[in-house]
Amino acid sequence: MLLDLVEKRRSIRKFTDEKVSEEDLREILTIALHAPTAKNRNPVRYIIIRDKKRLEELSNYKVNSAKFLAGADVAIAVVTDSEVAPNTNHQDASIAATYILLAAADLDLGATWANVVDAKHESGISSQDFLHKFFDLEDKFDVECIIGIGHPAEEKSEKVPFEYSENVFEDLHDKLK
Ligand SMILES: Cc1cc2nc3c(=O)[nH]c(=O)nc-3n(C[C@H](O)[C@H](O)[C@H](O)COP(=O)(O)O)c2cc1C
Repeated sequence: MLLDLVEKRRSIRKFTDEKVSEEDLREILTIALHAPTAKNRNPVRYIIIRDKKRLEELSNYKVNSAKFLAGADVAIAVVTDSEVAPNTNHQDASIAATYILLAAADLDLGATWANVVDAKHESGISSQDFLHKFFDLEDKFDVECIIGIGHPAEEKSEKVPFEYSENVFEDLHDKLK
């Protein structure tokens, strides 16, 4: 059941040393490749980072909130080609990244999304610029997020949904607050 999976999925930032198998990684990416994209244009690309030293360097792409990437067994950079889908590339990437998070949870792996938009490297340059250099990317690419994945070394309680009555409104009846 999808409900069981979304209850199970939490952001996991602590990982054991156990490797993520090639089969699991392949399955995660295959699931992402099923994600819908506007007009079916598919502007989303994935870069797999497995090298420990590269993961360590990558974990410093922004000042805060990406350090967990150093402890991940693998990271996936979700990148879009803005020339393929100039208006919807960010939305397409968000859906694909969500598929990755759910696929990882389904395989009992831990994963967390690290954000790139508006983030800065400690040198003062934008994280986007840092990541372009790091991955040697042409200007047309946007790095949308980096997802760290590994075997969980922390347990989290089931996801509790936001309050239904505060977030769901009936047309012609409720006023959005
Ligand atoms: C768009 C987006 C950006 C996020 N950026 C970061 C981030 O940069 N670093 C991080 O540790 N977690 C990041 N997260 C994870 C959120 O903090 C997390 O999803 C939220 O606190 C809810 O917790 P849960 O995922 O366990 O349900 C991000 C999540 C989303 C959806």
